[in-house]
Amino acid sequence: MATKEVITKVWIEEGCIVCDACETAAPEVFEVLEETCVIRPDALSAEFTKPRSEGIVDAAEECPTDVIKFETVTVEASDADAPVEPVVSAEESPAEQPVAKPAPVVSKTTEPSAPKAATAKASPVVSSGAGDPDPAIAALLRAAKSRGGSAGILANEAAVPGEAGALRGKAAADLPPDARQAKVQEAARKARKDPDAARRSLISSAALGIGWSAFGLGTGVAVGPAFARFMMPNVLEEPDPRVRVGPLRRYAEMEPGAVIEDFKPQGVWMIRTRNRIAALSIICTHLGCIPNWLPNDRKFKCPCHGSGYRQSGINFEGPTPRPLERFRLVVEDGVVIVDKSKRYQFELGQWDQPGSYLEA
Ligand code: FES
Repeated sequence: MATKEVITKVWIEEGCIVCDACETAAPEVFEVLEETCVIRPDALSAEFTKPRSEGIVDAAEECPTDVIKFETVTVEASDADAPVEPVVSAEESPAEQPVAKPAPVVSKTTEPSAPKAATAKASPVVSSGAGDPDPAIAALLRAAKSRGGSAGILANEAAVPGEAGALRGKAAADLPPDARQAKVQEAARKARKDPDAARRSLISSAALGIGWSAFGLGTGVAVGPAFARFMMPNVLEEPDPRVRVGPLRRYAEMEPGAVIEDFKPQGVWMIRTRNRIAALSIICTHLGCIPNWLPNDRKFKCPCHGSGYRQSGINFEGPTPRPLERFRLVVEDGVVIVDKSKRYQFELGQWDQPGSYLEA
């Protein structure tokens, strides 16, 4: 008999930073007040929480300070309550259909557990041919996983070592000298006193170089290539801006309102609106964090300052001033390719330009 884990008890430990993430993920269970977040009275009952287990787990995962805890029990899958239907916002297009809900969350323990340990998710699937993850996006995703931004840092204030904490209140003049800074200042002082020092230093370096070259030639060591490499600038290679996102057939079969997250490591969400396929940039247009797609709420929600975007990429809440950007789409030999070197902005009327979408 198939079994599953359902949540019978949920609570919030100290340390809430009132970020709003839990209420966004499970509004029937969590209520964000002025200074903290609380469990709604109905959600103190196991019968109420069981069918809402998935939303509670999502809320725990979204919580930047990991203060949401819960207990689970194992039940037969057939005994589980019916999942709550996703709420479709009034502003959504009536033609947009809810995305299929993910499989129920299964936990391996019935003990009180840390949410992330109970529900660790596999890394996003990267379709073959999509190329390597974008290093810049990977860095942002890692930062997003540490969660909370400055709020998270403040929440972890207690982790600051005592000696470092003690220095915080001191005036700059009272702080102990920084050795590196002192060296830089000393060098600058010397250069100001003796302007010929730099020239002499260059000449002596050149003489040293000639000496070493002679030594290299004399001993048969080829210093030329090594020297040439040394003189070459260190170049950072840009990742390929073209991401192959799979056959056109896959997108023709997408449901309106659907979001494909397989290419998030490459910085792209593939979406299908009523009659168009588009590639959304995953970068929040407020200050550059990476929002999360919340299928139950049918929106992208930025964990940094709470900006929200509809499935189409249009912003509707939070501080962001404009929608997510879209990338150019081309089809080559039946394969859809996202060209991230060309962007389209809604506020500039560019979402109707050829290349900014494919006809569904
Ligand atoms: Fe996304 Fe500020 S960076 S809301």
